[in-house]
Parts: sequence; structure tokens; C-alpha cells
Amino acid sequence: MVESESEKNSVPGDASAFHEPVLLKEVLSALGLERNVAKPERPLYVDCTLGMGGHAEAILKACAPEGRLLGLDRDEAALEIAEKRLRTEAGRFSLKKADFRQIAERVAQFRADHGPMDMMGILFDLGLSSYQIERSGRGFSFQRSEPLDMRMDPDLSLSAADLVNGLSESALKALIHQNSDERWAGRIASRIARIRKEEGAILRTEQLEAIVWRATPKQHRHGRIHPATRTFQALRIAVNDEIAQIEAGLRSAISLLDPGGRVVVISFHSLEDRCVKHLFKHFAQSGAEASGKRFVRLFKKPLQADSEEVLRNRRSRSAKLRALERAA
Ligand SMILES: C[S@@+](CC[C@H](N)C(=O)[O-])C[C@H]1O[C@@H](n2cnc3c(N)ncnc32)[C@H](O)[C@@H]1O
Repeated sequence: MVESESEKNSVPGDASAFHEPVLLKEVLSALGLERNVAKPERPLYVDCTLGMGGHAEAILKACAPEGRLLGLDRDEAALEIAEKRLRTEAGRFSLKKADFRQIAERVAQFRADHGPMDMMGILFDLGLSSYQIERSGRGFSFQRSEPLDMRMDPDLSLSAADLVNGLSESALKALIHQNSDERWAGRIASRIARIRKEEGAILRTEQLEAIVWRATPKQHRHGRIHPATRTFQALRIAVNDEIAQIEAGLRSAISLLDPGGRVVVISFHSLEDRCVKHLFKHFAQSGAEASGKRFVRLFKKPLQADSEEVLRNRRSRSAKLRALERAA
């Protein structure tokens, strides 16, 4: 069936129909939400990457009846989608627009509105939701013909097109290389600079995809991943300031945990995972020095999806789950 333009970019009514949460069983267990684990009287969970509400729904069901959930996302469309999905749990959750730098203030507000609660779990399922890739119309994927936007929060000031057309060739090369380890970053940046000078602004996903394809040497165009994958990833990371966001978000989440509480993170590429790994190691080894808190990593090696999940849900193939617990 062919979708109309308005259907493609609409907010779906039934999120569960096309989004399966990644590593769901593992997330619940890493958050200590198995049935037989004792919980405090008023446990609070925060989903910092609400997306289509898949993990949030499962968390709410698993922590019923006492548990409460605060769901955050920088993309307002996610709040709308998740709100519909979570309808049956009304009264037990609150959803707010927030990026990772605003977690502490949203939690403080939630506590002021709902009274004291024990912070038992904070989840980060990084990256993009399938709504953003498949329906938002914001140019996250080179497989769709869309404007080169890539803002998770449409209120951000700079789009991917602003970077592609506004940065110098050397700044583009550095951006692509640093955010994706792209081997051909120099050739790609040089072709972008040439095409925008000769043909005008690069405003669509298909234009950028064609530029990267031609900049990639012929013998390297048919590898495991499409040649444009890394350049698109690099621009998305830059537009949304993703790595600095993750670092700030994790630090504040860790500082909010009560004893026994856990921060759980699913990452999808090495830049994200490296950041999570180093920060968790740092907190596990030196604790939050000044505060005297103690932290332990639940597992040294990250959990990954089994082959059954990878077959069912391709997105899970690169997922890595790490978890840190506040021990005291
Ligand atoms: C992979 S999706 C989450 C999917 C969700 N766990 C589910 O089961 O439906 C990631 C979500 O996190 C949001 N996100 C990513 N980075 C963010 C940030 N720095 N601040 C707030 N939200 C962010 C995205 O907008 C997206 O909706």
C-alpha cells in the first residue's frame, strides 16, 4: 500500500504496532523490576528517552501498583505518541518535554508535585525512534527523500542542512571524521564543498546520499553498510549535540539515584558506548568522590540481543546495554 505524504509524516495512533522496544526483558531485569525483588514503598522510575513509550509501558506495568514513572523526551511528538500508548496507566505517570541537561529540574518538579519518592531506576535508550526515522519527515535516513533537517527537537536552531551548507570544508571533514570514524571524510567534505559551490545549496537527503556515494571509491561502495550511513550519523550527532548530552545526562542521572537505584543505558554505536563505558567505570572506581556514594557496574561486558531478537528486530543487532547501581 502506498502511503500519502500526510500519512507518512503523521503521529501514529498505535505506537505498539510498529515499534518493538529493544532488549526489553534485559532492561526490566537491569532496573531490578523482576517480580521477586523487594521494592521501596514509593519507587520512582525515569525514562529519559520515552520515544514511542514501549519501555515506559513495560516499566509501569512491572512497578504497579506503587511505582510511578516520569517520561522525558526532547521530541514533543514522542510525548503525544506515548501518552496514547500509556492511557491505561493514567494517574501513574507524567510526561514532559526535556533534553538530557534538564533531567534534574524535571525530577525536582515531579517530586515537588508528588511528594517524596525513592529514585530506583533511570533508563536511556539512545538514538532515534522508529517514528523519527520512518514518519517524522526530518531527513534522518538516506533511504527516504526528505529535507535535510535531523533535529530531534524541531526548536533547535541549526539543522543538518545549515551545517552542510554553512561549515567550511575543513570543519565538515573534522565533524564527519570525529562523529563517525569515516575513512573518506576528506573526500566527502571536498565533494560537498564543490557541489554546493557549483550547483547551490544541498537541501535534501537524496542529494547528500548521492554526494557521499560518488565521493566513496568504487571498490568500497558495496560493503556491509551503505556508504552514506556514517556521514548521516555524524551530522545527526552534531545537530543534536548527542555526545555532550549523553555525558551531562548520565552524570545527573547518577547523582539522582537513591541507594539500590540503577541507571540503565542502551547504546547503538561505538561513540555512545565508549562514553557510557568510561563514565560508569569512573563512577565505579572513584565513586562520586565528594558525596561519599558508592557505585557498582552490574556487568563488566555489555548485554546484547540474542539471535532470536535480532531476527525479529533488526535494530537490536547493534544494541549494547550497560547498568550502574548506587550501592550505598
Ligand atoms: C530509541 S528512541 C526510544 C524508544 C523507547 N525506548 C520505546 O520503547 O519506544 C530514543 C528517543 O530518545 C529521544 N532522545 C534522544 N536523545 C535525547 C536527548 N538528548 N534528550 C532527550 N531525548 C532524547 C529521541 O527523541 C527518541 O524519541
